[in-house]
Amino acid sequence: MIPAILIMLITIATVEVAGAEASHGMVASVHPVATEAGLRVLKGGGNAVDAAVAVALTLGVVDSDNSGIGGGCFILIHRADGSLAAIDGREMAPAAATPDMFVRNGNADTKLSQTGPLASGVPGALAAYEFAVEHYGKRKLSDLILPAADIAEKGFALDASYAGCLKRAAAEMGQFESSRAVFFKNGKPLAKGAVLKQPDLAATYRSIAGQQSDWFYRGPFAQAVEQWMKHNGGILTAEDFRNYRVSLREPILSRYRDYTIVGFPPPSSGGVHVAQMLNILETFNLKALGETERLHVMAETMKLAFADRAYWLGDPDFAKVPRGLLDRGYAAALAGKINREHVTPVAGHGMPPDWENDVFKTHTTHFSVADAEGNWVACTATVNTSFGSKVVIPGTGVVMNDEMDDFSIQPGVKNYFGLIGDHANAVAPGKRPLSSMTPTLVLKDGKPLIALGAAGGPKIISQVVLELVWQLDFGMSPAEALVQPRIHHQWFPNELMVEKSLPGKLQVGLARRGHKLKQMPSMGVSQIVARSPDGKGFVGAADPRAGGNAAGW
Ligand code: DON
Repeated sequence: MIPAILIMLITIATVEVAGAEASHGMVASVHPVATEAGLRVLKGGGNAVDAAVAVALTLGVVDSDNSGIGGGCFILIHRADGSLAAIDGREMAPAAATPDMFVRNGNADTKLSQTGPLASGVPGALAAYEFAVEHYGKRKLSDLILPAADIAEKGFALDASYAGCLKRAAAEMGQFESSRAVFFKNGKPLAKGAVLKQPDLAATYRSIAGQQSDWFYRGPFAQAVEQWMKHNGGILTAEDFRNYRVSLREPILSRYRDYTIVGFPPPSSGGVHVAQMLNILETFNLKALGETERLHVMAETMKLAFADRAYWLGDPDFAKVPRGLLDRGYAAALAGKINREHVTPVAGHGMPPDWENDVFKTHTTHFSVADAEGNWVACTATVNTSFGSKVVIPGTGVVMNDEMDDFSIQPGVKNYFGLIGDHANAVAPGKRPLSSMTPTLVLKDGKPLIALGAAGGPKIISQVVLELVWQLDFGMSPAEALVQPRIHHQWFPNELMVEKSLPGKLQVGLARRGHKLKQMPSMGVSQIVARSPDGKGFVGAADPRAGGNAAGW
């Protein structure tokens, strides 16, 4: 099973793509059909937020293994007037959720948190897209969703990657009649080249065009979910849907060398730990280090941050997440533990300053509608693992997420991504599971310079850190930063994952420093949009590890 997510990054301004002149806008997404949908909106006078939502809704059709309205998202926006917004469309646990809901005979069962009726939280993506368009867009939600409905109805030919995901998920999806009805033919998952038509999803999108998200959260969809859940042992209710709320949160601002890093706050762990890791790395002169030493220092930094993640991070509306994790003095103390020559064991989390009192809180603000010029959007969305819970709600075409697996379902029990957690991320009614999604913006002298983000569970956080260092310290372009071999350490398990493309001498050097290496064929998928070096245009790049594209005009 391949985990699932979408990344899209959109800017509006004078644009330059891969040497081509482009002056109005740029879109980078994991699917050409979705990139094209976003470009069409920009060309028609919509702004970056409108385009982002069009991309998202189109990806929900052509890339539904990764994301869709049955899932959640984080949207980070820099508006033309310089203001910032972090829209939290993360799933919420149902009211009947309990800390031990996945425990059977004393042991947590990850099959239950990853597949079937108990795996889903209340999806937040649609509420977030609607909120974004209403507050910061220029178009109506219906204008953005109807073209995607047409694509769902007409169908599209499955590429090798989609067909591969479907094949890997087929055994689990095949358990659900409503999922087979959409994705199977003659008892078998659709294969490469087959045309996937989704008339139910088209009808769902058209109903939303007519009745907005009421249809989903307060109408027929919520009722259909409740009914299916009742018959299949689930606990999600129509009332859970009615109670879903988008959270408008305050982005995390931190400094790295001459740059301002704008990160997504909890329940994303990404913003906190990217800032924390960069704070640690800033105490080193990365350019002056040898190549192996540099990667070793980065791996040790990742390890320290992920140890803190496992203990401290969770939904800030439920858990006290210390702001001291961002403290420079704390980072310097952690940096002091790093031995440049050899790995240092990390037994557990650290103690950030004033951890009891200075914690993340929810902040709510209202904005007026944005002008198109100078808007930047970084959005990461997901149904979690490939095809989420594998459940399609009958008659709707909507694939439900399995985001409940991002909770710590029992202390010390690994989730799909091998992550462990503690009380801060335990299941509770109405709580949002901790996420690694890390949409990020970089500002220089107050102006947007880079928008980036990634897919890959916890590897999202390490990718973003690596790509920031390659661009900000080493002056690489987005495309150059994306091709660099990746490393990832998440503290537990105590192993350093490296892409097999990492040159052998570096792998040997890291092993000599005491790292237990685990070779991976490929780790994560990032998309980057940045201002061009002359400051006049923009450059964009999609990860060569996946089939997406960056395009502007
Ligand atoms: O929110 C999270 O951290 C995960 N649900 C992200 C899943 C993911 O990245 C799947 N991607 N490949």
